[in-house]
Amino acid sequence: RIYSRIVGTGGYLPEKVMTNIDLEKIVDTSDEWIRERTGIEERRIAAEQETTCDLAEKASLQALEMAGLEGKDVELILVATTTPDKIFPSTATLLQHRLGNRGAPAFDLQAVCTGFVYALSVADQYIKNGMYKRVLVVGAETLSRITNWNDRNTCVLFGDGAGAVVLEASTETGILSTHIHADGQYEELLHVPSGPSKLPQTDDVAEKTMSMKGNEVFKVAVNTLSKIATETLDANQMQKEDLDWLVPHQANLRIIKATAKKLKLGDDQTVITVNKHANTSSASIPLALNEAVRDGRIQKGQTLLLEAFGGGFTWGSALVKF
Ligand code: ACO
Repeated sequence: RIYSRIVGTGGYLPEKVMTNIDLEKIVDTSDEWIRERTGIEERRIAAEQETTCDLAEKASLQALEMAGLEGKDVELILVATTTPDKIFPSTATLLQHRLGNRGAPAFDLQAVCTGFVYALSVADQYIKNGMYKRVLVVGAETLSRITNWNDRNTCVLFGDGAGAVVLEASTETGILSTHIHADGQYEELLHVPSGPSKLPQTDDVAEKTMSMKGNEVFKVAVNTLSKIATETLDANQMQKEDLDWLVPHQANLRIIKATAKKLKLGDDQTVITVNKHANTSSASIPLALNEAVRDGRIQKGQTLLLEAFGGGFTWGSALVKF
């Protein structure tokens, strides 16, 4: 059997730090409210000229370096993003050119906060069936561009960043399974009301930026993440005790802790970056993974559960032998 192994990880955060105190000056909020309800202390914001592809490029170069590869060596490039540089060409093709790769297929994938797990799942299918041996999977976002800086319900929650992994075909165990789902009935609980085809000419800021019924999203997220954790373990005939690490999407510390508790995983087995990064959507899992791999917490041979929930709704998981 052929597995996809993660052989490189990378991450990049823009230099500019925006703290909760900075946000107190923009909207009617407080550091205390944000910390208590979300666990967020600060987030990074891309510079005016800095795009999603710029962040993706830096994260990708790090991941390739760890894998001992160059851009030209990968056979498929996937970028999960909700905030592409342009409507087209895809950010994946822009990235491909920056990385000096020609000819490999490259495409973007949109599943909002579940985007990275979706992309990992797609990449895994191509590797398992023998089509490609080396795949670059990136999650990259400049959510600050679709944030309504007048809306305290949302603007305190999000940040910019990018994470990347390089997958390689191997006979050694790697990705054990991926599970992806969607339910489009929840469209309006979490969305950007306008797009290139709907209300394309709107000047209304509220229509061009993220809108969320946070409390309702919260409840569905907690329930759904608990279910997908069970689905993933059952599919692999594994128990909670077999997990070494939870590497969750970083939307809210309370959601992360609820999932960890359900899995009987302590803080020392849960990778948490939401305090420093806030919610970076598709970038949050690869950023968290990269941090824990580089600081030595995650070790080769350990079993990781990656999980995410986001707009759509979409949700998904991956069980990975690192
Ligand atoms: N500062 C101060 N007060 C605030 C703020 C703020 N920034 N934002 C909201 N409030 C107020 C509200 O107005 C409300 O006041 P009211 O009671 O007078 O009406 C009160 O705080 C409570 O608001 P809730 O929305 O009930 O607060 P809650 O505890 O649910 O926390 C939060 C809100 C943090 C958004 C939470 O619901 C959440 O994390 N939801 C899930 C987010 C998520 O997982 N999204 C999916 C991924 S994102 C993606 O896919 C792009």
